[in-house]
Amino acid sequence: MSPNPKKKIVLGVSGGVAAYKSAELTRLLVKAGYDVHVVMTEAATHFVGPVTFQALSGNLVYTDQWDPRRPNNMPHIDLTRGAAAVLVAPASADLLAKLANGLCDDLLTTLLAARDCPLLVAPAMNRQMWENPPNQRNIAQLKADGVAILGPGHGEQACGEVGDGRMLEAEQLFELLEAALQPKALSGQRVLITAGPTFERIDAVRGITNVSSGKMGYAIARAAYEAGAEVVLVSGETSLPTPIGARRINVKSAQQMLAAVEAEVARTDIFIGVAAVADYYVLNPSEQKIKKDAHILTLELAPNPDILAGVSAREQPPFCVGFAAESENLLEYAEAKRQRKKLPLLVANLVQTAFGADTNEVVLLDDHGETRLHSAPKIEIARKLVAHIARLLPEYRRD
Ligand code: C5P
Repeated sequence: MSPNPKKKIVLGVSGGVAAYKSAELTRLLVKAGYDVHVVMTEAATHFVGPVTFQALSGNLVYTDQWDPRRPNNMPHIDLTRGAAAVLVAPASADLLAKLANGLCDDLLTTLLAARDCPLLVAPAMNRQMWENPPNQRNIAQLKADGVAILGPGHGEQACGEVGDGRMLEAEQLFELLEAALQPKALSGQRVLITAGPTFERIDAVRGITNVSSGKMGYAIARAAYEAGAEVVLVSGETSLPTPIGARRINVKSAQQMLAAVEAEVARTDIFIGVAAVADYYVLNPSEQKIKKDAHILTLELAPNPDILAGVSAREQPPFCVGFAAESENLLEYAEAKRQRKKLPLLVANLVQTAFGADTNEVVLLDDHGETRLHSAPKIEIARKLVAHIARLLPEYRRD
């Protein structure tokens, strides 16, 4: 089943070449289960036709206050009722100016004035227009009015100039919109997460690593940010983009991961060890590439520090969450691990194939017992885990 069963989003599109990115955004939203209703200004229709948005959203597209297709002739009221949010992307300088001053001279601006749900805007304009003092005044006013300003990005613009004013990419807008819709259960909390594999050097070109993709840890970083937390992500080598809102510290070995965690942990309220930390490192890695010959090569391995156990053994530990993957007696071994590492919460991976996959199925073990999270995309598991942590935090703090 879709993670967001038909949550309604109104997507406003004003005049700008970035409107093509909003077609992709519509596709992403629909794919994720949102019910998307697109409203365009007249200028927007010069860049992308309403038919494109209609085909992608599966809903009628509105451009005109006098559209006779609404029985009550009030599209400016009807469209936002029941909506979780309105996102205007692209938001032109003209649209922002009207919005900041309460002007209502077409369907989109009238609908924005009449809305009763949160509003997000994604500015898109030439860098000079973005920096133009009246535009900056309008942005400041909109922020004061509680409008969320997404971006703009920096880079090459359609006009060939380089600077601030590019609309964010569809994927970024999608993540920011989803973040805006989540409950702020971890507001004000500082969360430190380890993710991905570690890499233990054998020689100049070789090492010992594992198949952890980092996807679960990255999903938790995203979910924690969505919940209002300040997020630091200490990551082994992965091919994943940094989750929006997270400060990422790249490491390779377990020793480097430990050093990064130790540098951050004193300022941490919640520590979540998702990384697949190598149990051993190579005692004497070779500076040079080891030459192949017919002899047996023996590597001497020494145990790595247990980062999570070290954090949880601190005098005033943050709320510590561990992960466990076992090939047999999962829950029994996992609970024993939770006790041994003194963790208020441990996440037991039910599926051995979770490494690299986009879905996962887990059991949460805490002092109250077991909570099973059925198979779902990792971001959904991550959101439920974050909500669970938020529920446990108050009793942990009392101890
Ligand atoms: O002991 P085991 O490796 O099964 O424990 C898994 C949990 O402990 C994970 O949360 C993992 O991130 C953490 N861990 C760690 N440092 C290690 C080994 C595991 O932080 N050296």
